[in-house]
Amino acid sequence: MILEETYTLYNGVKIPKLGLGTWFINNNDVVQAVKDAAGIGYRHIDTAQAYGNESGVGEGVKACGVKREEMFVTTKLAAEIKSYKEAVASIDGSLKTLGLDYIDLMIIHSPKPWAKFLEDEPYFEGNREAWRALEEAYKAGKLRSIGVSNFQKADLDNILNSCSVKPMVNQILAHISNTPKELIRYNQEKGILVEAYSPFGHGELFKNSEVAAIAEKYGVSVSQLAIRYCLQLDLLPLPKTANPQHMKTNAEVDFVISEEDMEFLKNVQQIEDYGEHSKFPVYGK
Ligand SMILES: NC(=O)c1ccc[n+]([C@@H]2O[C@H](COP(=O)([O-])OP(=O)(O)OC[C@H]3O[C@@H](n4cnc5c(N)ncnc54)[C@H](OP(=O)(O)O)[C@@H]3O)[C@@H](O)[C@H]2O)c1
Repeated sequence: MILEETYTLYNGVKIPKLGLGTWFINNNDVVQAVKDAAGIGYRHIDTAQAYGNESGVGEGVKACGVKREEMFVTTKLAAEIKSYKEAVASIDGSLKTLGLDYIDLMIIHSPKPWAKFLEDEPYFEGNREAWRALEEAYKAGKLRSIGVSNFQKADLDNILNSCSVKPMVNQILAHISNTPKELIRYNQEKGILVEAYSPFGHGELFKNSEVAAIAEKYGVSVSQLAIRYCLQLDLLPLPKTANPQHMKTNAEVDFVISEEDMEFLKNVQQIEDYGEHSKFPVYGK
């Protein structure tokens, strides 16, 4: 049962293999979503400062009936924060907003501020500054693990060449039809766990008839195929839903995709148009 399985980060911290994404779940609704998820067996919740729902996530975690130490909570340092001083304040801000004594994983949301995402400036110095603040909070026990998100190879090298604590996680866009193989391999070679965000391409994957045909062959839904696909690549999928039925379905992935079908799914034509989400820079590259 996938909900009981964990990956182990290089520092020994165990991280549940399936996480619940909470982007676009508002701060009120997310309280119930976290409680429902915990009731179904989820132990890993993914939020961000930018989602505006950290306090609801914290409330849900505290009220869900599962011991705090059994829940794994991730949040993200806002993409715009690229100075040490602001990062220190912002990490403490997340702890306060979540209402938790510690955060299981905190990651830099993006190497570039969102408004500059498609520009060339890499913000190397700003990321080293933000990273230094995360390292200190990690060493102080406020954060159990630290990582990055949307980091390409050069962004990672910038941190790896200067850090005292290596990132444990890189959270990137990865799903059937959009699998950045080289970047995944580079992270995994460095011992960095890759988390797959938007495992359904923000829902666009459900429109692909070739993917639906493969799912039908295995007698599963496209959502189950998409999650299983990530797991077979040693990625940690973060499907978003506030619907308890979808939460249950997404956790029923006890089947194996053949190597041949994995190859086919890796090479399905990439989604170019993420619909209304194309306006967000991570989908607009
Ligand atoms: N680090 C980053 O920059 C970044 C960027 C994007 C996302 N993320 C993280 O990754 C998470 C997931 O990505 P995402 O929110 O973009 O989208 P996603 O998980 O790829 O897709 C979400 C969509 O799938 C639907 N869905 C979920 N389970 C379903 C099921 N079993 N059957 C049918 N539809 C289903 C949801 O609808 P319902 O709600 O109706 O179920 C929603 O419309 C985010 O919530 C966030 O935590 C991180």
